[in-house]
Amino acid sequence: MRNARAATALTCTVMLAVAGCAGSTPGGSGSAGKDTDGRGPFTLAMGKDTTGKLQSKILDVWNKRHPDEKVTLIELPESADEQRASMVQNFQAKSDRFDAVAMDVIWTAEFAARGWVQELPAASLPVADMLPAAVDTAKYRGRLYGAPMASAGALLFYRKDLVDKAPTTWKELVADCGIAEKHGMDCYAGQFAQYEGLTVNASEAINSAGGSVYGSDGSVTVDSPEAKKGIDFLVDGFRQGYIPKKAITYKEEEGRRSFQKGDLLFLRNWPYVYSLANAKGSDTSIAGKVGVAPLPGADGTGASTLGGANLAVSSYSRHRKSVLDFMAFVESPEVQRVEVEDLSNAPVLTALYADKALSRNFPYLPALRQSLLKAHPRPQVPAYNDASLRIQREIYKALQGQKSSARALADLAKELKQVDNG
Ligand code: GLC
Repeated sequence: MRNARAATALTCTVMLAVAGCAGSTPGGSGSAGKDTDGRGPFTLAMGKDTTGKLQSKILDVWNKRHPDEKVTLIELPESADEQRASMVQNFQAKSDRFDAVAMDVIWTAEFAARGWVQELPAASLPVADMLPAAVDTAKYRGRLYGAPMASAGALLFYRKDLVDKAPTTWKELVADCGIAEKHGMDCYAGQFAQYEGLTVNASEAINSAGGSVYGSDGSVTVDSPEAKKGIDFLVDGFRQGYIPKKAITYKEEEGRRSFQKGDLLFLRNWPYVYSLANAKGSDTSIAGKVGVAPLPGADGTGASTLGGANLAVSSYSRHRKSVLDFMAFVESPEVQRVEVEDLSNAPVLTALYADKALSRNFPYLPALRQSLLKAHPRPQVPAYNDASLRIQREIYKALQGQKSSARALADLAKELKQVDNG
């Protein structure tokens, strides 16, 4: 071991004279991209691997095939906002600690505009085979900065052992809450803590009532009777009790746990819940009882917000080529099938949605396809985070009863007009 290290040091001393030696000199990271051939082990920063399957079914497979270019997962906190904060901190420090990052679809514009992630050679990825909406989220000003890893559309999870037919409207959902009451369960929950998930849920409620946060020309349209109707579905839920009080603290995982314990009849969440809730074992009491449907809305099926994650390579990474190869691996039908079969995520390859056998075995797929077809993207602007924080703040006040929904939406419209979307 000692000899091996000494040999490496010697090689580096020799190499230094020629081109520098990665990581062996103080300040070595400043020479990003110049001092290696762009290959080597790398890290991937992303949210929690809740199933453990990302590691065992995707990363371990890559690592076995690429012993000199192994990927190490750096698990970030569970909430999207905390993940972003951690990435931003690393980028601002020009750190090479994160080589690849799993960028939420809403961060592309900001990360690209600030020069934190590298433009990708579009020809190296099968973009034509992917869901166009997912590819759009990976672009900024027409250029590609992300490799779509998994898309995401909202689903209504429900207990098919207790409810005959999934509700397609809010009215039907509320009418079914008697069933929850009879069984001592809570009726409905989504993500209502003050973080990105609240922006997602509020936008869905607004869009599902025919309103919008922004118009197609980018103007602020959130102060409307339709938006009020949407937000009132949530406000009334807290007031009348069809949404339990504790759901004001729910992010994705809190709701999932409550549903899996058998405490919740209806849950708005992302597709990943399907595999976990149906996994036989001690972690869930409802395996085999999970129904999946598109979200309900005011007058018919509702509208999801488009979610998902795109892989990006940090501008401070020295192992860009290895990351690019890893991206191509993640886009392969082999890995995209794992996204379905083991992680129950939304695959990004269009062909998988037409695969009848796959839909038979993973019945969440048809509902997901429907959800994705109608999904609304969030604005792709560098100041997205600023806008989202304002949405979270105002809507949270309405949910807590500190402001009427009308007041909150009027104030929010003023707030959003102040965001510099340049
Ligand atoms: C999921 C989605 C992401 C969204 C987040 C909100 O991670 O993929 O797009 O912003 O949830 O909590």
